[in-house]
Amino acid sequence: MERIPTARPSWNDEMRKAALETLDSKHWVKGPKGKQFGELFADYCGSLTAVPCQNGSSSLWAALKILEIGPGDEVIVPSYTFISTVTAISLVGAKPIFVDVEPDYWCVDLDSIKAALTERTKAVIAVHIYGQIYNPEIIKFCQEQSIALIEDAAQAHGAALETTGNEILMAGSLGDIGCFSFFPSKNMAVGGEGGMLTTTRDHLTELVKGVINHGRSPSLESMQLGSNLRMSEVSAAIGIEQLKNLDRWVERRRAIAQRYNEQFTNHPHLLTPKVRPNTRHAWHQYCLSTKYANQLVEHLDQHAIDARRYYQIPCHKQQLFAEHPQHGDELSNTNHLAKSLVAIPVMHELTDLEIERIISAVNSFSPV
Ligand SMILES: Cc1ncc(COP(=O)(O)O)c(C=O)c1O
Repeated sequence: MERIPTARPSWNDEMRKAALETLDSKHWVKGPKGKQFGELFADYCGSLTAVPCQNGSSSLWAALKILEIGPGDEVIVPSYTFISTVTAISLVGAKPIFVDVEPDYWCVDLDSIKAALTERTKAVIAVHIYGQIYNPEIIKFCQEQSIALIEDAAQAHGAALETTGNEILMAGSLGDIGCFSFFPSKNMAVGGEGGMLTTTRDHLTELVKGVINHGRSPSLESMQLGSNLRMSEVSAAIGIEQLKNLDRWVERRRAIAQRYNEQFTNHPHLLTPKVRPNTRHAWHQYCLSTKYANQLVEHLDQHAIDARRYYQIPCHKQQLFAEHPQHGDELSNTNHLAKSLVAIPVMHELTDLEIERIISAVNSFSPV
């Protein structure tokens, strides 16, 4: 029986052709593909601008630099996230202030943000965890408090918020600066490492464009602090082709998630994930919650199905933050998710047969 992995990036003839043509052109950096990819991605997200960059981690670093966040500043961040959401804050010399997440939707909790606010707070980094849109009230709150909102959309390509006026606001347009990753397991990829910076703020567009290229003006004078964070042209060419498929792929993830929800809802030992009302989940991960997380992973492994327990050590409890004043804090929802979530394969490349195999394996799970 062939093993079912948790990720399987797409690769087709159009992507191969785009990559080869770009290599043949010998225009490998700073060319038309990066520019076009950025424009198409901005269109897709409804952001003012979008700039391809090296990876999601460098996009977070760049966002903080653009916002001039550094020593003496505090940035509020959920502890239940991938470590680079937090390390970006430390890398610019600011202090991460760890807060808890929501019990139902697993994104950063607004009341916890409110409680953590001080006069040193410069920004919140909110994460659309596993593709779930964060509480849109956070956008309003940050505006009211005049603090920046950095949108970690690394897991949320194709996720969206439906407003009361029936407007669809895509991930990437729900903060001041949006940060995406194109790591191969993500909802779309670029044939290597990759990321994207987006912004919804007029006064930040030039800074976002500049930060990935040493802050240089057209006359090559450096006007702001930046670095070489540029994406290669080959990756951008692949990204353009991948983006054409994104809606279809996310729809496939949604259909799989819906089928899982129907099939697992009555399982006595598993809780299915919830979707925030008036949002469209991008299902980067589909996680079941169970008291028997390790047993479920082992059970699926015996059925040749990969499953993962992400973020088992909350960020503030990692050795890296041994000296952080919050290192010993207990964040109850974070702790609970760290112990109980199991991600099962939900990628768009799953075949119908594989989906049925996963469903029957999960349904045959009975803890000892
Ligand atoms: C929530 C989150 N933030 C940031 C990143 C960093 O992205 P990258 O791996 O492209 O640096 C990831 C990637 O896994 C992520 O999941």
